[in-house]
Amino acid sequence: MLRVEGLSKRFGGIVAAYGVNLEVHPGEILGVIGPNGAGKSTLLNLLSGLLRPDAGRIEFLGEEITQAPPEVRTWKGLGRAFQIVQPFPEMSVWENLMVGALYGKPGTGLKQAQRVVEEVIALTGLAPKAQTPAGELTLLEDKRLELARALATRPKLLLLDEVMAGLRPAEALEAVELIRRIRASGVTVVFIEHLMPVVQALADRVVVMDYGQVIALGHYDEVAANPRVREAYLGRAR
Ligand SMILES: Nc1ncnc2c1ncn2[C@@H]1O[C@H](COP(=O)(O)OP(=O)(O)OP(=O)(O)O)[C@@H](O)[C@H]1O
Ligand SMILES: [Mg+2]
Repeated sequence: MLRVEGLSKRFGGIVAAYGVNLEVHPGEILGVIGPNGAGKSTLLNLLSGLLRPDAGRIEFLGEEITQAPPEVRTWKGLGRAFQIVQPFPEMSVWENLMVGALYGKPGTGLKQAQRVVEEVIALTGLAPKAQTPAGELTLLEDKRLELARALATRPKLLLLDEVMAGLRPAEALEAVELIRRIRASGVTVVFIEHLMPVVQALADRVVVMDYGQVIALGHYDEVAANPRVREAYLGRAR
């Protein structure tokens, strides 16, 4: 579904991504882990088009998108939820989602956008908050709105950056269920997450990054037992 070859990005002297090779298979849930500053968000920014790589190539559904602007990637079916949630605060949940639905695919009519919004509101459990201004939501509801906004663009592949950060364990479990429902609805998912129980529960495969490089890739149990991964997490002071 997605193929990344030799992807590299520097910020001055910092190498945030270096020679990243990666494939995402249709229908899978792929977890991305790694210590703070490992380059996880940079990788998602390169995939969603917020950043352009210094080198390398990105292919999505067989088409090269390395230089495509973010909105074109969204239109092609590459959706993105952000680590920091920024809804329009005075607009209702419903209105925020209409923006996502209308922006996500050009030529979408109002009726069709309303249907999409009804669907994602039901899926994400936001129905009781549909008319609430986004600025009045709790953190958990904010996270749901951000997921719903990304879903309203009707992605085939959804990129999630720490959508569970700051949630209590019970809330994180609910979010795990929600991401499972999203996958069951036919969406492929790539997610960055620090909470290891969540990664273990959700990911079919796990990519481990350290200093901008992929240092391990495989099933959770394999990568958790990998000495290089253990060293990245435990072995040195940062
Ligand atoms: N826009 C930027 N300008 C300069 N340096 C950046 C920029 N974005 C990221 N970096 C640096 O690149 C490296 C990778 O950052 P990135 O945010 O991708 O890490 P991360 O794995 O997402 O970390 P975290 O787990 O803390 O979210 C870090 O050293 C960071 O300081
Ligand atoms: Mg990050």
